Amino acid sequence: MSTLSHLQRLDAEHQLHPFTNHEELHAAGTHIIGEGEGVWLTDQNGRRLLDGLAGLWCVNVGYGRPELIRAATEQMKRLCYYPSFFNTTTEPAIELAAKLSALTPARLNYAMFSNSGSEANETALKLIRGYWKLKGQPHRTKIITREFAYHGVTLATASMTGLPSCQTPFDLPLPGFLHAPAPHAYAVNREGDRDAHADWCIAETARLIEREGPETIGAIFAEPIQGAGGVIVPPPGYLAKLRALARQHGILFVADEVITAFGRLGAWFASDIWNLDPDLMCLAKGLTSGYLPLGATMVADEIADVLIHGGYLAHGFTYSGHPVPCAVALANIAVIENEHLVERVSDDVGPYFQQQLQSFAKHPAVAEIRGCQLIGAMELVPRGGKSALTPTSALGIRGSKLVREEGVIVRGIRDLIAIAPPLTITREEIDVIFAAVARALDRLWDH
Ligand SMILES: Cc1ncc(COP(=O)(O)O)c(C=O)c1O
Repeated sequence: MSTLSHLQRLDAEHQLHPFTNHEELHAAGTHIIGEGEGVWLTDQNGRRLLDGLAGLWCVNVGYGRPELIRAATEQMKRLCYYPSFFNTTTEPAIELAAKLSALTPARLNYAMFSNSGSEANETALKLIRGYWKLKGQPHRTKIITREFAYHGVTLATASMTGLPSCQTPFDLPLPGFLHAPAPHAYAVNREGDRDAHADWCIAETARLIEREGPETIGAIFAEPIQGAGGVIVPPPGYLAKLRALARQHGILFVADEVITAFGRLGAWFASDIWNLDPDLMCLAKGLTSGYLPLGATMVADEIADVLIHGGYLAHGFTYSGHPVPCAVALANIAVIENEHLVERVSDDVGPYFQQQLQSFAKHPAVAEIRGCQLIGAMELVPRGGKSALTPTSALGIRGSKLVREEGVIVRGIRDLIAIAPPLTITREEIDVIFAAVARALDRLWDH
């Protein structure tokens, strides 16, 4: 087995990492994770860490599940790969498409598979363009998303993403990608007036639609809870109003449920909670609990019908409907069902997690707490309070490093830390997370 320093040197010399400052990485040395079991990881030094981010918001059923490993192994032995091009497909792809049609909201009865959340969104974009062209409305090419949105990293999905750090270095967004304000009251110092701010966001979105011309807009994409942009939980009523606005103008509504699906919010889908009835839904991450890459774009019957009768559909990837990740997704969904993980989140660990999260409300380093069931965030402030924050404070990044030193992985985003553990986490393990966060915040505050 290679030594840690050897691996770190090879890594520095040969691998470009996603979302990484490479100079900092090389100076610190890559943290190499070796093993996972339940909510626990073991790194190359043999140190155990509790994974409070479920990998990257995705390992919903926890690490090392024999059911998923068995499904992958058996499928690989039976048929390791075959495409879904050329009038063929494989049994797991069919079974999974049918299962997802049954699980997702009523009108979503077709699945088109891909390999990631970015590809699920990219696929949605292309299906929507194709659909409007077939419907005789080819001018509906513009797409509305929101500030702080995260929809992926391809040129088009990074254009939908509403984070300057993902766009500025690449001269994005591409033309035709429009951004409406997000219901992120804290970011604009309107946390005392959350509902009014959300109403203003809706009014601004309506003005954007009018200004651009409703007949030029193909779709609104929205994460029901904005995840990577900072765990932005909208106030009650906002999502219904956004959905109604799309409907009012004949604009398609796409729920990007890459993080929110498969139980994290104590429901199979956020769309169920807020009754969003989306025209398309994008899935990835928790679909396989991250065991293998898989994305799915769920499509409503009316849209699928137009595409089905619209001639040759020239879209799809070599690995669309790959039988091995599809078999793993079926096993993953079976675990979620058999262990009642959705109910476990809604009735037990979700409320407990929120209660523990809220117990930080009085901590002097914490200015705001946001969350829903098994996802949460804390906005951190320095001793001078919120007004003393600067664009480079990066308290969340600093805080998350301290939490990791305390034995728990959370995510630092700007000045906040985000937490989203596997759904299998126990109350005792939730206590471990928050004890580490408490120690880390005290250290952050002391310096
Ligand atoms: C809501 C949402 N959409 C899309 C993506 C992109 O997914 P991927 O990284 O699998 O391309 C992410 C990833 O975090 C996400 O959170």
